[in-house]
Amino acid sequence: MTPVPAQELVLRDAVTSDVPCLSVLASQVFLDTYATEGITPWFARELEEHLGVAAVAAWLAAADAWVVLAERDGRLIGFAQSTRRVTHALLTTPAARAFELVRLYVQRPFLGRGIGTALLRRCEAEAKSDGASTLWLTAWVGNERARRFYAARGYVDRGATTYTFDGESFENRLYARQWR
Ligand SMILES: CC(C)(COP(=O)(O)OP(=O)(O)OC[C@H]1O[C@@H](n2cnc3c(N)ncnc32)[C@H](O)[C@@H]1OP(=O)(O)O)[C@@H](O)C(=O)NCCC(=O)NCCS
Repeated sequence: MTPVPAQELVLRDAVTSDVPCLSVLASQVFLDTYATEGITPWFARELEEHLGVAAVAAWLAAADAWVVLAERDGRLIGFAQSTRRVTHALLTTPAARAFELVRLYVQRPFLGRGIGTALLRRCEAEAKSDGASTLWLTAWVGNERARRFYAARGYVDRGATTYTFDGESFENRLYARQWR
């Protein structure tokens, strides 16, 4: 696929007025990725609780949160949501030197055009400038496209974690990249 030319891709920090569009894009990508066999009440609750307007406003307001947007022609096509200074039991990095990538989402028509990589590299640069030595994330074990994407970019599978919401549990894999 044709890459989105660098001059057409704008990466910028999210601000409060971005919340409605961020919520819509996050919901769309979440459903495209995970609700591939129809919608259940669980999806409705997950969306409202974690990706609704109030939830996204809370992401931005949280201490140590950082959200970067990818835009083309002034339209939102991707984003990365991160938390500074947070570590995980599977890592030896102290919280002060760890940076979590909470979500990396690109709208389906723009997949495979370099936007995910551009957002990931931007997060790595932000983490480094924040004094972090590790960027880490969790990906659903069945999300093979994402797992391949991170593995190809230097992220190492460090073990299993469990995501539980509303009575359902899912195995995730924790990936981390360390640079010093
Ligand atoms: C995972 C995800 C963020 C990757 O984003 P993306 O924009 O498709 O990523 P890129 O285009 O940078 O790279 C993906 C593939 O496209 C190709 N690609 C990379 N750069 C490219 C470029 N400049 N031009 C064309 N193709 C490119 C490569 O084949 C690459 O695969 P590789 O890992 O074998 O190198 C995206 O698939 C996504 O949003 N998925 C849904 C949500 C999700 O699963 N998020 C992760 C949850 S943890």
